[in-house]
Amino acid sequence: METARLRLEPLDLAHLEGFHRIWSDPVTTQWSSRGFCKTIEETKGRITGIVPDKSRPGVDNYGVFIRPSSSQQEPLSAEESHVIGIVGVHKDDPVPELGYIFHPSAWGKGYATEAVSAFVRHYFILRPDAAYIEAKVDAKNTPSIRVLQKCGFDEIETLVGGAELAWMDPPVRDLVVFRAMRK
Ligand SMILES: CC(C)(COP(=O)(O)OP(=O)(O)OC[C@H]1O[C@@H](n2cnc3c(N)ncnc32)[C@H](O)[C@@H]1OP(=O)(O)O)[C@@H](O)C(=O)NCCC(=O)NCCS
Repeated sequence: METARLRLEPLDLAHLEGFHRIWSDPVTTQWSSRGFCKTIEETKGRITGIVPDKSRPGVDNYGVFIRPSSSQQEPLSAEESHVIGIVGVHKDDPVPELGYIFHPSAWGKGYATEAVSAFVRHYFILRPDAAYIEAKVDAKNTPSIRVLQKCGFDEIETLVGGAELAWMDPPVRDLVVFRAMRK
């Protein structure tokens, strides 16, 4: 799958190095109940659990890469050549639940919005039975809420005390549920 600036590839173990750069960072992963990975072995276990696999038919995760533009003189840097983000659905029961995470070097360029929009369009084609897709976001995670708003998600409800993150202050968190309907 390609967008103006990005390529989305089904998540694969070959993406481990870039995946580890993202999932080993305590700041990037602060909103995830799973926390950050301390070793590459731990990261390997995590990616293995979410790569698309016949045994997990509800899982659709993609690695996001920057596409070198035809007018670009310089080749992509090593940092830009790795997977810069992950987007997808990690579970679809009872409801398809969207997740996404990007490396900080890629933040603030509209990449998450571009990748999430493309993924959601693709998901509704891939899953004709899905009427909608949801995302649960920490009420204080403003950049993520912005991404969902820009991608056309509507706010549905707030789950007060819906998550607990031991490293946050306060550890008991409110989650906002967003939903995008099939168009
Ligand atoms: C959330 C995340 C994916 C956004 O990635 P990104 O590529 O920077 O997103 P985009 O550039 O497409 O859009 C970010 C938006 O948030 C805004 N934003 C960023 N930081 C902000 C802040 N502190 N306060 C208010 N708005 C902020 C940006 O201005 C932009 O909105 P705009 O286009 O209206 O100006 C990235 O920050 C990330 O990986 N965070 C950690 C993981 C995470 O939170 N995942 C989601 C879990 S639900």
